[in-house]
Amino acid sequence: MPVGTAVVLPDSEQIQNPGFPPYRPRVSDLDPKKARSNERRIALLFAASMVGSVFAIVAYIVFPINANDPGSIRLNNLFLGLGIALSLLGIGIAAVHWSKALMEGHDLSEERHMTRGSEATRASAAEVFHLGNKESGFTRRKLVRNTLIASLALWPLPGIIIFRDLGPADQDANDVLRHTMWKAGTRLTKDPNGVPIKASDVTLGSVFHVIPEGLDDREDALEQKAKAAVLLMRLKPEDLHVSKGRENWNYHGIVAYSKICTHVGCPVALYEQQTHHLLCPCHQSQFDITHEAEVIFGPAKRPLPQLPITVDSEGYLVARSDFHEPVGPSFWERDHT
Ligand code: FES
Repeated sequence: MPVGTAVVLPDSEQIQNPGFPPYRPRVSDLDPKKARSNERRIALLFAASMVGSVFAIVAYIVFPINANDPGSIRLNNLFLGLGIALSLLGIGIAAVHWSKALMEGHDLSEERHMTRGSEATRASAAEVFHLGNKESGFTRRKLVRNTLIASLALWPLPGIIIFRDLGPADQDANDVLRHTMWKAGTRLTKDPNGVPIKASDVTLGSVFHVIPEGLDDREDALEQKAKAAVLLMRLKPEDLHVSKGRENWNYHGIVAYSKICTHVGCPVALYEQQTHHLLCPCHQSQFDITHEAEVIFGPAKRPLPQLPITVDSEGYLVARSDFHEPVGPSFWERDHT
């Protein structure tokens, strides 16, 4: 049968609507004693809800939050939560039980009305519209109309601009987002103990979670780590496909890439040693380290930024510079380059 054709059966062969199955009376329909006991049970559940509400109020007073005592926050939250949970559960369970055990349980079918309005309703709606247009002069007074549209287009802008206040007051927000604390000569150290890494420690196939030296001395260590975290891997130099200008960004096959996923910023922490793929556990983006961390699967839109590295006079791995592009979600790159 060709695609898109429908089979229309003659009336005699149409499947008839079987209707609703016959109503099966419940125990509480047949036995008034059972109905009364259900009624009492429902009332008991409503009463439990009342107890929960009162308990929550009492708990709020008896267990106040003391700013210097974390234990007081725990107690306050625990008892307040228990009270509110009992209060809501009591009402919810009682309502369901009431509807299932006591309320009338007949099935009903209701014909759907037309969603299209009647001709008269449509005509009167059009008339109201035209009248509004005529009285306001919306289409006639072009100057007023156009300035109204322009003002409506502009009014959300102040709301967007004040997002700037979310950034640091004393620094350029753009600068803060584009740069990390890596700079030429910063040693690569192990996360979390901060021990510097020698190139000779990085054996073929190994992977290190890396933070910049001196991170722990910073007041904003967590914010800095969120941007500067790096993964370090060693591959055979002949396995690396290096593009022009990046020839000296790796050190004898040791490469460093940002650990912050370019999709929405999760840590890309799973390294598949055989295939040299990095996997982000959040939405399964995969990056091929042999091809400068290009995206081979998943929602990420650009490769992980590479940190250019070399060694210092003592053989420790150091950065050649900061990243050459912003780390993290892709929209930064689209906005600024
Ligand atoms: S954050 Fe990595 S794939 Fe979504």
